Amino acid sequence: MDKLVIEGGVRLAGEVDISGAKNAALPVLCAAILSAEPLELANVPRLRDVATTEKLLGQMGASVADRGDGSVVIDCAQLARLEAPYELVRTMRASILVLGPMLARHGRARVSLPGGCAIGQRPVDLHIKGLQALGAEISIEHGYIEARAPRLRGARIFMDIVSVTGTENLMMAAVLAQGRTVIENAAREPEVAELAHCLNAMGARVSGAGESEIVIDGVDRLHRAQWRIMPDRIEAGTFLAAAAATRGEVLVRGANPAHLSAVLDKLREAGARIDTGADSIHLLMPERARAVSVRTAPYPGFATDMQAQLMALDCVAEGTATIVETIFENRFMHALEMKRMGAQIEIDGNTAIVQGVPALDGAAVMATDLRASASLIIAALAARGETVIDRIYHLDRGYEAIERKLSGLGARIRRAA
Ligand code: UD1
Repeated sequence: MDKLVIEGGVRLAGEVDISGAKNAALPVLCAAILSAEPLELANVPRLRDVATTEKLLGQMGASVADRGDGSVVIDCAQLARLEAPYELVRTMRASILVLGPMLARHGRARVSLPGGCAIGQRPVDLHIKGLQALGAEISIEHGYIEARAPRLRGARIFMDIVSVTGTENLMMAAVLAQGRTVIENAAREPEVAELAHCLNAMGARVSGAGESEIVIDGVDRLHRAQWRIMPDRIEAGTFLAAAAATRGEVLVRGANPAHLSAVLDKLREAGARIDTGADSIHLLMPERARAVSVRTAPYPGFATDMQAQLMALDCVAEGTATIVETIFENRFMHALEMKRMGAQIEIDGNTAIVQGVPALDGAAVMATDLRASASLIIAALAARGETVIDRIYHLDRGYEAIERKLSGLGARIRRAA
């Protein structure tokens, strides 16, 4: 099993290019199911979750041409198997995103229930309730969601909890439904808006995506389209946090600063000097960071996917920070590993109190999920001595070429078996 070996204490400096967004690429790949004509994508990141989605589409009968340079063409003219099997869904929860499109275009779908995951319970009840509101008949049999609907009908859907993939699944289902669908309390994440823009390029009629009420007027069919995946705001935020934790200076290229407002505010509060361009962000951390408290929230609030990385920064900052995780109930596993590196963290339910220390010490630690892996890298970069991070397969799900990119900024990092 791969490990990362990091020799800490180096100030990160230089320029780094941001890849296409994982959380935009996954729903957009699934949107190809909605059309009998090909969807041509550019800037698709090379990630395990992307490969898993391509495998899933391939098993369903889609033709997937991935040139390996970010360009992927998916043709779902003939889908033979309307199913997402347990073997794939359990490795990637986002597989649930094939449910809405399969049902909308083919009138039936069979998708394994995801089950638990490391960061919490993460049920899919909102996806199911929303599809039922659109007229689907749904039963749970042998661990599978069995869904049927000859033709979905538009409806008004109120989401009890703001759910990103829930909103995306229902939006994709509604584009081929008969009549108008209104999704209230929709997720406002940029990736939701991105999916809507891609769907509209395919001939859908979606308005309001990126706001909390989305209106979708159903159409009979979608057509061929080309789409370029937006930059990954979480990857960009991760590099900024890493530079801040090492008192470095970095120019992040190909990022959209507007998508990172909450993160940039926190980094400024920590003492970073930040300048933004149209698609770049420059950060300079002139001295030791000041501790910053944060409460995660749906967009435009501070992203739960940046919580672990900010905690890493707080571990070496001056002062005490309070971090409240409101989205997932069990998302502090990285804290236990950071404590092995000398971090002073106390956890009480969904709140972590972090008392900054002048420096962390390298140690052997274990990655428990994707963003936890990223936070341990940041902690290791800021630590004295060597850190070995085990179970980094999580990292390959969501960060493209992270060792190469960090090495380019001066980090001493290598992969070992
Ligand atoms: C997406 C992102 C993930 C991010 C998360 C929150 C993708 C592929 N993944 O995950 O990186 O961490 O948003 O920003 O885009 N919930 C329910 N019932 C449901 C669905 C969700 O109770 O049917 C709850 C969840 O348990 C969680 C909250 O709603 O507490 C938000 O989860 P959600 O936005 O759905 O997360 P994902 O879409 O799975």
